[in-house]
Amino acid sequence: MGQHSSEDFTAQWAAHDLGEVVVSAKEVHDRVIELGQQITRDYANNPPLLVCVLKGAINFMSDLMRAIELPVEVDFMAVSSYGAATKTSGVVRIVKDLDVDLLDRDVLIVEDVVDSGLTLNYLRQYLGARSPKSLEVCALLLKKGEQRVEQSLKYVGFSIPSDFVVGYGLDVNQRYRNLDAIYTFTGEV
Ligand code: IMP
Ligand code: MG
Repeated sequence: MGQHSSEDFTAQWAAHDLGEVVVSAKEVHDRVIELGQQITRDYANNPPLLVCVLKGAINFMSDLMRAIELPVEVDFMAVSSYGAATKTSGVVRIVKDLDVDLLDRDVLIVEDVVDSGLTLNYLRQYLGARSPKSLEVCALLLKKGEQRVEQSLKYVGFSIPSDFVVGYGLDVNQRYRNLDAIYTFTGEV
């Protein structure tokens, strides 16, 4: 997490579009460490391939991988389901696919937020078809009561209300990813 972040600090350049702090930088930091320790224990004998879902999971991936004390490998994919709006279209497009083979790998999908669950549902089927040994999910945020598709998530950072949020990788129109905390968004889309 950024060296300059403190619990109550709100980035001045973004302040006029941000509402309340949903998860502070300190809370994110502490929870990511916990998740890393849990993953370290669970995968001690089979270090996973971490699959980062770009772009929203970049901050989470970057911190999480350093909190895992195992020889993990990382790869990236990019999907698009939103366009510029704040509600999912339900249509998922693969923008960038993985470089590595998943056959017999223990794969852990690293996601920023599960809202309707449609994106993750699609990803699971898409990656599951490549015969990984195991396929699990580590989601930083889970929006309460919003899932249209039932999800079994092995790791969840925080359950949050359904408001649209930004920061720590999460964007609106590609902005605010570089905030250390997670905020509700009150500006215009
Ligand atoms: P779902 O398919 O409805 O679960 O949406 C998942 C994707 O939508 C996430 O990977 C995010 O990229 C994006 N998303 C959902 N909710 C938010 C939010 O509150 N802020 C920013 N992006 C979001
Ligand atoms: Mg996303």
